[in-house]
Amino acid sequence: MARRKKIYEGKAKTLYEGPEPGTIVQYFKDDATAFNAEKKAVIEGKGVLNNLLSEYFMLGLTNIGVPNHFLKRLNMREQLVRSCEIVPLEVIVRNYAAGSMAKRLGIEEGTQLPRPIVEYCYKDDKLGDPLVTEEHIAAFGWASPQDMDDILSLALRVNDFLSGVMYGVGIKLVDFKIEIGRVYEGDFQRLIVADEISPDSCRLWDIETGQKLDKDVFRRDLGSLTDAYTEVAKRLGVMPKTSAPMGKPTLIN
Ligand code: C5P
Repeated sequence: MARRKKIYEGKAKTLYEGPEPGTIVQYFKDDATAFNAEKKAVIEGKGVLNNLLSEYFMLGLTNIGVPNHFLKRLNMREQLVRSCEIVPLEVIVRNYAAGSMAKRLGIEEGTQLPRPIVEYCYKDDKLGDPLVTEEHIAAFGWASPQDMDDILSLALRVNDFLSGVMYGVGIKLVDFKIEIGRVYEGDFQRLIVADEISPDSCRLWDIETGQKLDKDVFRRDLGSLTDAYTEVAKRLGVMPKTSAPMGKPTLIN
């Protein structure tokens, strides 16, 4: 069997060369990391759930015309995506104060923000992905002002879509992170949503109880991460197919 070419191994995913030029196979691992990989664990089944959930969200975005890298799911852990040049920014959209913003600005977690707030972090693990402004982004050439207009519009469209989908299943979208890819089409370049959208990269709280159904369960030791992600997948009707239940043993005479 031919070994396929590994392009990149990240904390939660591995990328392999795809079958056609311009495609990549994205493999979802069970590894969970937090606090810039200071906390690590293997959480059985997480990769399968994130693969299915990211497929669900990306297909939904495609259906409403938000360009993204998803092509098709290949199996329980892998999906085929368009290869793109990742813009070195983490684009964070917040609807409620939580996490690093709540801490940085001294706002109580869960406070509704007057409007969605978009933040940018420079993607660099060694630096701990520092918060940057559009001034840094333009000065260092990470993205042009025209790119930033497109990125803001993509981020807000993803926010409206995801907030609505989650609201429909009784979940509040507190915040999320997306990554943006650059693709070239002839003389043109276009920006698309890339990487993944999953409970690893969102904060999701049950609307009624406030229960956390995202990676904070792992970051803050709040219980089973698999149970939390399974709950999200169940509510969205995106559950891994389990093998048919075994019937009672029958006696063979
Ligand atoms: O930690 P912070 O509050 O800045 O995170 C904001 C949102 O971005 C959270 O939903 C978190 O899961 C996500 N995030 C991420 N990857 C990072 C940093 C944050 O998915 N490296």
